[in-house]
Amino acid sequence: MRVLLFTGKGGVGKTTVAAATAVRSAAAGARTLIVSTDPAHSLADAFDAPLGDEPAPIAEGLWGQQLDARIRLERSWGDIRAWLLEVLAWAGVEGIEAEELAIVPGLDEVFALADLADHVSSGRWDVIVVDCAPTAETLRLLSLPEVLGWYVDRLFPVGRRLNRVVAPVLGRVTSLPVAGDEVFSAGQAVFDRLEAVRELLADVDTSSVRLVVTPERLVVAEARRTHTYLSLFGYAVDAVVANRLLPDAVDDPWFDFWKAAHAEQLAVIEEGFAPVPVLRSELRGTEPIGVAALAELADDLYGELDPTALLHRGQPLRVESHDGSRRLVQALPFGTRDELALSRRDDELIVSVGPYRRAIVLPDSLRAREVTAAHLEEGELVVEFA
Ligand SMILES: Nc1ncnc2c1ncn2[C@@H]1O[C@H](COP(=O)(O)OP(=O)(O)O)[C@@H](O)[C@H]1O
Ligand SMILES: [Mg+2]
Repeated sequence: MRVLLFTGKGGVGKTTVAAATAVRSAAAGARTLIVSTDPAHSLADAFDAPLGDEPAPIAEGLWGQQLDARIRLERSWGDIRAWLLEVLAWAGVEGIEAEELAIVPGLDEVFALADLADHVSSGRWDVIVVDCAPTAETLRLLSLPEVLGWYVDRLFPVGRRLNRVVAPVLGRVTSLPVAGDEVFSAGQAVFDRLEAVRELLADVDTSSVRLVVTPERLVVAEARRTHTYLSLFGYAVDAVVANRLLPDAVDDPWFDFWKAAHAEQLAVIEEGFAPVPVLRSELRGTEPIGVAALAELADDLYGELDPTALLHRGQPLRVESHDGSRRLVQALPFGTRDELALSRRDDELIVSVGPYRRAIVLPDSLRAREVTAAHLEEGELVVEFA
């Protein structure tokens, strides 16, 4: 079972490359499902085939689905939303404004991803290819389960207990709408689903992220940041796809500047993401639409490689012995000293890089030890324990 996720900046070719990968996977005999979780669906356009909210056949062994995140959001979040609306009304916010406030941005995409865990456990597929939302959203949504899960573990049991005691009193005194049990169980169900998908995506043997870039400075810069943050959350990148490279056959001098710029950025990509392999795909003469054109693009991209193989095994997080002490090593490619913050709380290590935060639950071997030092070394955060 393999889950391949494609992400990158808007317009770089995520959908196209994901679709091409799925076509080649199915052609090799794997039962393949391609799912789009990007609310701006364009899978159907890439295949030039009608696709909807349920898996539909595209070609022999290939199925496609454009998840309707709204439906899923409504199903899982309905009870919680109803309560939020009551609270907002109590606070004097009503109508459209309240409707908007009761929707947590990005949550719809999270629910789309949550369906992945069901697809995996169904046993119906050998390979699931995911056409993700652009970088920022994907990151936020990948980190959300962990962040929310952390809060729910600590706050919900307390909140629920407190609720039983306080609710009758509070209800009488302030008329603040108090969350009923159905809100708590809806909340718990949501977090359980998110936790299941987070576990799936963090299983490096099953799930790999492929970063799609075009050889342009801004695109590459953003992809490097994405790489840092994915590592921080324990998601493994097994390849980078450099898409829309100018073919050598283009020799019109008008393109000289672009060819030089592409070559320069390609060098930055190769060096910046090493040892992750960089796959290349040329700018095609026409838009690669439909199974045949996508298959050609896949041949150009993967050559002899099996697109469903694990193309690189990274180790986002590991523990090593070192001169009698132990060290926790976290891959943080491109992380810089000034963005990094570290703190310890009980058996958790809190690592922040820029706006992202992760609470790493320390393994048993480290739990009872003091942190003595930490430093960044060749793209890795090394935390020393006594
Ligand atoms: N290698 C390529 N050669 C030519 N056109 C491409 C190539 N890759 C993508 N495209 C075209 O670029 C546009 C954007 O690609 P798309 O896959 O929709 O990007 P994204 O999903 O990242 O927004 C589409 O019109 C697509 O057909
Ligand atoms: Mg797309």
